[in-house]
Amino acid sequence: MSTTEPAFKFRPDDPDAPFVPDPALLSPRLIEVKNALVDAVSGVFRDKKITYDEYEKFRQVMMLLQEFKGVHGWFDIWLAKMVDASYEDEWPGTTSQPEGPLYVPGAPVLTPEADGSYVLPQRDDEQGTPLIISGQVRSMRDGTPLACAEFDIWQCADTGIYSNFGMDDSPAWNLRGKFRTDPEGRYELRTIKPVPYMTPGIPQLILDIWNGLGKAHFRPAHVHMKLRHGDLPGGEYMTQMYFKGDPYLGDNDPGENSQSSLEVGTTRHSDPEELKARGLEKYSSFLTTTFDIEVETVTK
Ligand SMILES: [Fe+2]
Repeated sequence: MSTTEPAFKFRPDDPDAPFVPDPALLSPRLIEVKNALVDAVSGVFRDKKITYDEYEKFRQVMMLLQEFKGVHGWFDIWLAKMVDASYEDEWPGTTSQPEGPLYVPGAPVLTPEADGSYVLPQRDDEQGTPLIISGQVRSMRDGTPLACAEFDIWQCADTGIYSNFGMDDSPAWNLRGKFRTDPEGRYELRTIKPVPYMTPGIPQLILDIWNGLGKAHFRPAHVHMKLRHGDLPGGEYMTQMYFKGDPYLGDNDPGENSQSSLEVGTTRHSDPEELKARGLEKYSSFLTTTFDIEVETVTK
């Protein structure tokens, strides 16, 4: 029988001995912040005289968010904004965003066009306005480009529907795909401008809360972007790109996760020659925009 002390104890050596925390592991900062949070939340409960009925509704909403894998996103959205707004601590990089419930792993790897750009998989008669997004991925620390970073993109069609969920007859992986940045971290992708949409399957309880808060049921139009690269902390980064002027931005966004720093303007091109040069003759116009992404990187 081994005499080595086990790393993990299932029970105290002496169940009746008083518990004394290990002073070497204590964090005064953690205790201070935790106590301040409890005080602040208790203050709201007292001031607003929160009832058990209201708390029960909150608990049910949390459970529903958990079903949608939305708990992390909900806290991240709210708390990241508060960190941004706190003293001297503005995030210098591109704001990250949660994955959301409509990501599907395993999207096809796209083949580059002759000029090195990519086209997101779409139907021959894909409805909507073509959108060309170009930009550069670089380190927010020193601007070093992230060469050969893998983009994993997903978005809704002009119908507001995402592929791969059996909600319409769109082919599998429509408007989903993976591609890589070039040696300078640059990319160019042609897609269709997404539209505001309502996430399918939102329970009535959540809709009631959105109605009560005066929020829309539609999220503002956005393109989901996941990045993978060895220099990213944890190897992965996620964000969403929004469009200036969208009526569902800001406080109207039911999830409140759109951020003004992630909004882009677009330029419309209607010249027949330009359309022809892009192979987009069947459309009356197309849009272009730039979306550079500045990310935290790890030093090696
Ligand atoms: Fe989405």
